[in-house]
Amino acid sequence: MRFDVLTLFPEMFGGYVGQSLLKLAIESGLVEVHLHDIRDWATNRHKKVDDRPFGGGPGMVLMVDPVVRAVEAVRPMHPDAGHLVMLTPQGRRLSQAIVEELAGHPRILLLCGRYEGFDERIRLILKPDEVSIGDYVLNGGEVAAMAVIETAIRLVPGVLGDEDSSANDSFSGDRRWLEGAQYTRPREYRGYEVPTILLNGNHEEIARWREENSRRRTLERRKDLLEDS
Ligand code: ADE
Repeated sequence: MRFDVLTLFPEMFGGYVGQSLLKLAIESGLVEVHLHDIRDWATNRHKKVDDRPFGGGPGMVLMVDPVVRAVEAVRPMHPDAGHLVMLTPQGRRLSQAIVEELAGHPRILLLCGRYEGFDERIRLILKPDEVSIGDYVLNGGEVAAMAVIETAIRLVPGVLGDEDSSANDSFSGDRRWLEGAQYTRPREYRGYEVPTILLNGNHEEIARWREENSRRRTLERRKDLLEDS
């Protein structure tokens, strides 16, 4: 799976792409992350990419020309034109179901905004799939783009060590419940013991216990998920 990130702050991704699961996925050739600085497509002398809003008001607006030209230049860098995602608090809210849908695209272009927002004509011209990671406002789309990469690569076959470990994740599988409690050694810590059923080696009983634990947790914490399933 290939990601092309269009941002004014490509350095923000440096540490992120060099760590952990994503680093391994890149090294094994399963994932590619290409960073593009929108400022490279600014034509004016000062490489200006934002300007004051028409009509007045606070903040700066990302200009249409550098953004549109950046997307038009990045698209042909690979034969698959890719799926264009704009990160914005006004987009459809990211869920595991949407992550599954996005992970079905072999190539995703992630357009990150900064400042107070995008000139509306960016939306009208590029018709991106607008995605939000939640009902709060970030200072820009970069952290949201990382969330999309982070969640999508878990679904790329081979990225997780254990092939079906994402199927048991919270919000995943047929029911999309929360995952149940997990334990590892030691068996006892400060008086808290691991449930004995997890130690008896009976896989059917363990599966039943896990399902019930997952159902109970979902009921206690996220009743809305049970109602949906
Ligand atoms: N940019 C600013 N806030 C955002 C959010 N909640 N989701 C995606 N992109 C954003």
